[in-house]
Amino acid sequence: MGVEKPRFTPVTLSKDDVRRTYARLSNIYDFWSFLTESKTVNKALQLANIKNGESILEVAVGTGLVFERIVSMNENGRNEGIDLSPEMLARAGKRLKKRFSNYALKVGDAYSLPYPDGTFDLIINSYMFDLLPEKDFSPVLLEFKRLLKPGGRIVITSMTPARRWYSRIWDWLVRKAPNILEGCRPISLEEDVKQSGFKNIREEYISQFTFPSLILYAEKP
Ligand SMILES: C[S@@+](CC[C@H](N)C(=O)[O-])C[C@H]1O[C@@H](n2cnc3c(N)ncnc32)[C@H](O)[C@@H]1O
Repeated sequence: MGVEKPRFTPVTLSKDDVRRTYARLSNIYDFWSFLTESKTVNKALQLANIKNGESILEVAVGTGLVFERIVSMNENGRNEGIDLSPEMLARAGKRLKKRFSNYALKVGDAYSLPYPDGTFDLIINSYMFDLLPEKDFSPVLLEFKRLLKPGGRIVITSMTPARRWYSRIWDWLVRKAPNILEGCRPISLEEDVKQSGFKNIREEYISQFTFPSLILYAEKP
């Protein structure tokens, strides 16, 4: 019996690659997001069940499409957004400053977040784990867990392997041309969330214009 091969080519994006990639994509990212992710974001926010007044962190805030919604739902709370890419963050800042003031945006790295233990009620993260090497899933999840209060929630959305025949085109595309989505590929994060000690795990599969995403909701015990 041979060793089982990974279903998709592992990504090898370094953090500098990520910064370079998103410096380049920052101008067009919103269009891609509108086509493939907007429906998923609505569902993720529904699962997050934000209560106005909470302490919320979005990791990999990108151009602020989700963060804008978070801040509007949490006007009396604390809203923090972090991203590795200054160019994506600059877009987020431009979007937010027109309407809000109760937020902070910082350049930062999901692997080592600049907050004390137990700071947040909720951490939201969309389409970042699908760029990371698999060996880093657990360490990053544990960093999220460190920052949550007991009972705190995570809502993580990623590209996922197709569960409907019409979405298999994406699995095929990524297998044939691993760089076509700039390092993004379908991943399965469910087991890592469980192994990292989260409880009450729920998942929601969504496809938008055939693009397959999985939202994972879980709580810190
Ligand atoms: C595909 S975009 C998603 C942006 C946003 N979450 C959304 O859904 O619109 C991926 C984002 O993850 C950020 N990113 C990747 N690795 C990161 C890391 N280690 N720490 C923080 N942000 C990271 C990138 O800079 C980029 O803005």
